[in-house]
Amino acid sequence: MKKLIVGNWKMNGSLAANQTLVQAMLDGLAGQAPASHMALCVPSPYLAQMQLRLTGSAIAWGAQDVSAQEQGAFTGEVSAAMLRDFACRYAIVGHSERRQYHGETDSVVASKAQRALAAGITPIVCVGETLAEREAGQTEVVVKRQLAAVIHAVAHCTSEIVVAYEPVWAIGTGQTATPEQAQAVHAVLRGQIAAATQHPERVHILYGGSMNAANAASLLAQPDIDGGLIGGASLKAADFLQIAAAGA
Ligand code: PGA
Repeated sequence: MKKLIVGNWKMNGSLAANQTLVQAMLDGLAGQAPASHMALCVPSPYLAQMQLRLTGSAIAWGAQDVSAQEQGAFTGEVSAAMLRDFACRYAIVGHSERRQYHGETDSVVASKAQRALAAGITPIVCVGETLAEREAGQTEVVVKRQLAAVIHAVAHCTSEIVVAYEPVWAIGTGQTATPEQAQAVHAVLRGQIAAATQHPERVHILYGGSMNAANAASLLAQPDIDGGLIGGASLKAADFLQIAAAGA
């Protein structure tokens, strides 16, 4: 399957900086089809800018979160239908920063995935263990529990999701999981998806957590690593392009 490389800009950027960054990425592609599918998940205020700049290009775009509610009195929330208005292809759900700082539970994350799918947006469902959970031998139990909540909620739409394995201890720390560590967890997730859908081959399982231009090729060479969710390195055009090229 063609790899999928998704940038997660987190709370970074400005109209001017985004313009420069996206232009550098498009210039780097020079009209060529990239080796991997590519997408950028940006802060919501910049979705219109992405739609304007990336429509017709090889780079898709999406949001970093979506409301678990459909519409109404939920101050500050952004609905799936609103993301659809800006032609978002993807919405990240259940990022560990949302789980950690905003108290998102497995069931909230599952509702968000459902809302995205209902609006025709592919949820990128993040799962991953903390360092304490890994050291306690709980990695498999934790990621399976997190993914099971989403599979249970979306049922027959399981083949329409993207999964991202992001060990919390590897995010933004420069401490990447080894290809073998990541592959071991991806194989578990692959098995769980295979048991839940007749079309497991449609589901990309991304690795995220300090993936960069130097380590991308060895991670992407693993049989069950179908792409990457890239934080810091997606803020540098050359690095992001190099990661996408490593997916060949
Ligand atoms: P990082 O972030 O690449 O900066 O570690 C990844 C993520 O949080 O999605």
